[in-house]
Parts: sequence; structure tokens; C-alpha cells
Amino acid sequence: MRLANIRYVEAGAILARPVINSFGMVLLRAGVHLTASYIERLKTMGYDVLFIQDDRLADVEIHGAITDQTRKVAYKSIELISKFIERDPKDSLPVDSIRRAVQQMINDLLSSSDILGNLTEIQGYDDYTFHHSVNTTILSLVLGMASGYSERKLLELGMGVLMHDIGKIKVPEVILNKKTPLTEIEFEEIKKHTTYGFEILRKNNDLSLLSAHVAFQHQEKWDGTGYPRGIKGSAIHEYGRLAAIADVYEALTSERVYRRAIEPNEAYEYIVSQGNKHFDPKILEVFKKNIAVYPSGSGILLSNGQRGNVIKQNPAFPNRPFVRVFYENDETLTAPIDYNLAEYPSIMIIAVENR
Ligand SMILES: [Fe+2]
Repeated sequence: MRLANIRYVEAGAILARPVINSFGMVLLRAGVHLTASYIERLKTMGYDVLFIQDDRLADVEIHGAITDQTRKVAYKSIELISKFIERDPKDSLPVDSIRRAVQQMINDLLSSSDILGNLTEIQGYDDYTFHHSVNTTILSLVLGMASGYSERKLLELGMGVLMHDIGKIKVPEVILNKKTPLTEIEFEEIKKHTTYGFEILRKNNDLSLLSAHVAFQHQEKWDGTGYPRGIKGSAIHEYGRLAAIADVYEALTSERVYRRAIEPNEAYEYIVSQGNKHFDPKILEVFKKNIAVYPSGSGILLSNGQRGNVIKQNPAFPNRPFVRVFYENDETLTAPIDYNLAEYPSIMIIAVENR
């Protein structure tokens, strides 16, 4: 299968993975032949990329980093908590449901063989906060695992990250969903979601105070230019420093109401370029080694004029995956060629084109 930007998908293409909305409902099943009207509907719903069957790439496996079932459990628990707070902010949170969801995510990730290549998820923008929270949690857990965290620490971190934006329910929706640039006053209002979240979470005896600190500190920056307190360096708890990288990366690669998503490799470049200013350099190193810069299935253009798709990750060289090419200068090759880009240092990936 391959990843295809929806603007290149033509009627007749076959879905390789189901399209699921934020409530875990299957909108279209794997195996469905897409019609022009399905494609139009998905476009208006904000879906950007689809997994399409491709016989030439039948050996490329793309599973979600977590199962669809686990994702559903995670969405349900966030939904439950949001509703709970709306109903009576003085009640304590149903923390157990979040704990179960995060434990299930950890189990999935620990048993997954190729997390790296599988961090790409299909998404629409009807449900940004849910997707964002779940995807940021997955990425944080991957970084936590790569940093050698115990399961107890992973759980503490994951629960905090899954609820890191919970304070947004107290920020007026008109500001959250505004499509034009924010005024200074509006931005000040957005900034408060960190403190609101901390206040909501810290009151719970069942929840570690460190988890609450993820909500409080995920917008702080290594050099002290973040918010709400502008603390810097190791004054920011390591969960906060780790969540900051995951949060920014996920936000950049997701579709937002106010701009189009960018490709994973561009988000990677951006984060690396912000390097030691915004992020903890040690965690940044972990990130650089553990992110699929070019997720499996992605369409790529090489510096030698050949075009094809990523077929497998190279754990030691995340930006030099295995690729299979089918075209050269837009002419079809007589037979596809596989490269391990780690062995061809002179060949560069110059563009991502999910055709
Ligand atoms: Fe946030």
C-alpha cells in the first residue's frame, strides 16, 4: 500500500486502511473502491492523505502504531473527561479510564515491531483536539521508551500528555477555532489553557502531580521563551520538555483549521532547526533517532530523477529509508528498483510527493 494525498486519488482506487472518525466510527472500510463522490466527501471533511492499495507495494506493511480499538478507547476516555468537566468542574475526574487507555497504548507500542514507520495516521479536522492528544501521546511514549523509561514513568507521562490540552475547554471556542491570526489579547487567552489544565488535573489525588505538570509545562521552552511562566532548562520537568517536542511535531504534521499540514520531513527539519533554543538537546537527539522522517508508504522524489515510495525504515538512519522506484524523469522504468538509501549516500530524497 501507499500513502496518497487526496488530491491525487482517482475514482476506482481501493482503500488499504479504513477511514475512521474521532469517535472510532468507520466511515469507509478497507477494500472499498473509492468513487468520485466519496473522494469529494472526504475532502470536505478535511481528510488529507489516504492509504491506497498498490500491487507494486504489496509487501509494504503499514499498521497504526496503536490498534484502531485502542485509539477508540483513548478517544472515549478523552470525551468522557471533557463531558465530565463541562457538567461539574468540582467533581473529580474519571482518571481510571485515562489510565486504562494509556496502559493499552503502552502495551500496543511495546508489542509493535515497526513503530517508526507507522506514526502516520489519517485524519480530518472535525476532531482536531482528540487526534492531536492521542497522536502526541503516542509520540511521547515512543520518546519515553527510547529514553529507557520504566512502565510506571511511561504511564505517568502518557496520562499527562493525553490530557495536556484539557484546559482548552475553558478557552472560548471562537478563539480556539479562529482562522485568522490571533490578536494579542486572544493569544493571552490561549496561553491560559496550560494553567487551567494544571488546575483541573492537580486536584486529583489519583493522578500524579507530575502528570498535571505536563499540562502546565508543555509550552515552556528550553531557552525560557515559552509560557506560562517562562522557566528554562532543567527547571522544566523532563516530561514537559519531552511533551513539548511531541506536541510541536504532531501539531505541524496535522491539519489545522488555520493552515494545511506539512510533511513529516519538513516538520523534522523545523524541529531540528529550532534545536537548542526551544528544546532540550538530549531529548532532541532521541527524537532525531526515533522519528520516521519519511514514513513507510510515502511517495518520494530522488535527486537522480527517480520517483517511488518508501518501503521500509532504516532504524539506524531514520532519514535514509529503503525505497522502491518506478519512474525516472516521469518515464516508467522497465522494472522497479529497490534501494537501501543508507548504502547510496549520493542519492538524496529531494521531495515528498504522495501521489
Ligand atoms: Fe497545548
